[in-house]
Amino acid sequence: MATLIIYYSQRGTTDLVAKTLAKNLNGSLIRIQDLKNREGFKNRLFSTISAFREEKTDIIPPKIDLTNYDTVYIGSPTWAGNPTPAILTIIDRCNFTGKDVVLFATMDSNRGDTNINRLEEKVKMRGARVIESFTIATKNKSAEQLVNDTEAIIEMKDLKMYKR
Ligand SMILES: Cc1cc2nc3c(=O)[nH]c(=O)nc-3n(C[C@H](O)[C@H](O)[C@H](O)COP(=O)(O)O)c2cc1C
Repeated sequence: MATLIIYYSQRGTTDLVAKTLAKNLNGSLIRIQDLKNREGFKNRLFSTISAFREEKTDIIPPKIDLTNYDTVYIGSPTWAGNPTPAILTIIDRCNFTGKDVVLFATMDSNRGDTNINRLEEKVKMRGARVIESFTIATKNKSAEQLVNDTEAIIEMKDLKMYKR
């Protein structure tokens, strides 16, 4: 049995957090791709509205079989205080019954907590037992700082305890 880290990242910060978790916790990674074009000012505005409305999107992979994992991390950037459409879409296609779930949210500076609250509601509805969660502010941080911040959280929250 093993640890899986499912995440979405548009700009690479959540990707770095997820990869740091995987390295330290011996986890596998699945990065969800959103097939909608999210680049540019106009698309950012649409993405904000879409996240606010909790709209779904087209993703790759379309679904994930969690059978071989007992601890599942789910990570999403914060968009308008909510999870991203790609992460909301994959959550609705997973069965978390019997899974220990750790949630993490990246953000520029605020509303990561509301993102986490919504993620928690969604995964619990699909059977998850949420055992931990954390937010990470990413604005103006170097890659090195992000790795250090993530490793500090792993220590502080004793996440290695859940490593199998
Ligand atoms: C459409 C959109 C909406 C966002 N809304 C918020 C927000 O409400 N609060 C916040 O602190 N950051 C917000 N951000 C910033 C991202 O959450 C932050 O930069 C995150 O680290 C990006 O992750 P990524 O590099 O993995 O894509 C938003 C970014 C985008 C593109």
